[in-house]
Amino acid sequence: MSMRTHYAGSLRASDEGTEVALCGWVAHRRDHGGVVFIDLRDREGIVQVVLDPGSPGTALAHSLRSEYVIRVEGTVRRRPEGMVNPKEPTGEIEVGVTALDVLNEAEPPPFPLDDRVEVDETLRLRHRYLDLRRPRMTANLITRAKLVSAVRAAMDAAGFIDVETPTLTRSTPEGARDFLVPSRLMPGTFFALPQSPQLFKQMLMVAGLDRYYQVARCWRDEDLRADRQLEFTQLDVEASFVDQEDILGIVEEAVARGVEAVTGERPKPFPRLTWAEAMTRYGSDKPDTRFGMELCDLSALFADSGFNAFKGKGVAGLVVPGKGEMGRNQLDGLTDRAKSLGASGLVWMRVRDGGVLEAPVVKFLSELEQDGLRTALAPSPGDLVLVVADPSLRKAQSLLGTLRVDLGAPERLDEPLAFTWVVEFPLFEALSGEGKPIPAHHPFTRPHPEDLDKLESDPLAVRSMAYDLVLNGIELGSGSVRIHDSDLQSKIFTLLGIELEVARERFGFLLDAFRFGAPPHAGFAVGLDRLTMILTGESSIREVIAFPKTQSGADPLTGAPAPVDHVQLRDLGIALPKPK
Ligand code: AMO
Repeated sequence: MSMRTHYAGSLRASDEGTEVALCGWVAHRRDHGGVVFIDLRDREGIVQVVLDPGSPGTALAHSLRSEYVIRVEGTVRRRPEGMVNPKEPTGEIEVGVTALDVLNEAEPPPFPLDDRVEVDETLRLRHRYLDLRRPRMTANLITRAKLVSAVRAAMDAAGFIDVETPTLTRSTPEGARDFLVPSRLMPGTFFALPQSPQLFKQMLMVAGLDRYYQVARCWRDEDLRADRQLEFTQLDVEASFVDQEDILGIVEEAVARGVEAVTGERPKPFPRLTWAEAMTRYGSDKPDTRFGMELCDLSALFADSGFNAFKGKGVAGLVVPGKGEMGRNQLDGLTDRAKSLGASGLVWMRVRDGGVLEAPVVKFLSELEQDGLRTALAPSPGDLVLVVADPSLRKAQSLLGTLRVDLGAPERLDEPLAFTWVVEFPLFEALSGEGKPIPAHHPFTRPHPEDLDKLESDPLAVRSMAYDLVLNGIELGSGSVRIHDSDLQSKIFTLLGIELEVARERFGFLLDAFRFGAPPHAGFAVGLDRLTMILTGESSIREVIAFPKTQSGADPLTGAPAPVDHVQLRDLGIALPKPK
């Protein structure tokens, strides 16, 4: 018999009667009146193996400890009546052991490798090789591999060419801080790790590759969150002679195939919102569309109000179903939350029978305004109405959008996947201190053709050819149609206040490339860590990355980042300030 004939976790009732050889780790051992039960774990799961009294190996079985590495030979049999465990995929069967070998011993693990036990994350990461033995973690990595494989197959099928781009390069324009790598051969100079392959993929279009993709590692030195790591992976895409529709279609197909490979079900076509609709209805450019609770623009109703807090402001309202009985403490908490987000205040009203609004502010609202509120929001008795006003309507909407998610978002688990394309993002997100527009995506994004005349007169009203993909309220990916003509590119640099010399210094190589026949092109990048996180029902991308960094940006397993030898520093021409 070979070393192993089957994965332990893959055995099913249909294997009854099969002689098998299994290898793996001892997850649990129980002795019951001379019978020894072992839960044998491998990457596919756990199966129960049984040593009956007197069978060879029983004595050895008594000495087994957790995480010993063993090999068993035996026959698959059905479990006796009453012993079936419907919770385990292998729960209908067990393996009657005819031979047992210990392949290696193990020290007691520093934490139980049981999915149900909560373990401190730093400890888990320090012994990640043990943590990944836990079935949930192994399953996450397998899901990730399935997803990536299906996504690659979709890109290959659509005629995309997988090209690797450098990781030792120059700064890329995604707007985060760069990781720098000092050059030994040219002391005093530095490579930057790419924040994305953005500039290279555009040059591949100039090179005539026509359709490029890469499962690309990206590096960004930014503050970490549950959905952010210092290094992460994108499905990165660029194509020539295409328009926005083509790119959305290509990316949607790849993502849909990836999801189908994992869930067995193809998601429905992704609905679309313009950025302005997303802000108006959900108060967010990454709307969580798994639930309603849409916002309502009440500005017109209160344009000439006698209530100064609303008068002439951008006013947004929202109904929270069934929360009319929220106590004063909770309402004060909500108000504090709104203020911490930057609101000057939060108006709440309880809805009573007959639609009567009840709250301290109601006396400041005219009958007409109260009627208008009832018509616009259509609340039911027992609901809570929330209203935020701000000189900027978008700010009022975005504040209320955050409260909407706080109050309305269903538990992440067990919810359907709600994809949304958000299109027509503004070209600029705000004006800087010097009054220069700040790009919302990156400086190579094409302005919307209908808004070109507003570039100088009203830059913040200019829409772009940039689009995002959102899943369950999380930004999954972004992309845009690019600028391929140098006149428009120079104009945008000038608007941004990037001097042409500075642009040449930072991106000169791309601008040079564009002088030699750049095709019209467009692209996209999907965050694969985030997509895997949502598909596995995890709440942090750390759970779907084999060796992630902690929230504070360290790797407890290897001890990175770590001080280096002074000789290494000397070779690089780097001197560190003396510790005080
Ligand atoms: P963008 O910067 O929006 O676009 O990134 C695309 C997607 O990458 C994921 N992502 C991250 N995931 C984990 N940790 C991070 N720190 C992190 N940062 C980004 C997100 C995000 O939506 N070059 C452009 C794309 C293009 O224009 O083609 C780009 O990188 O899911």
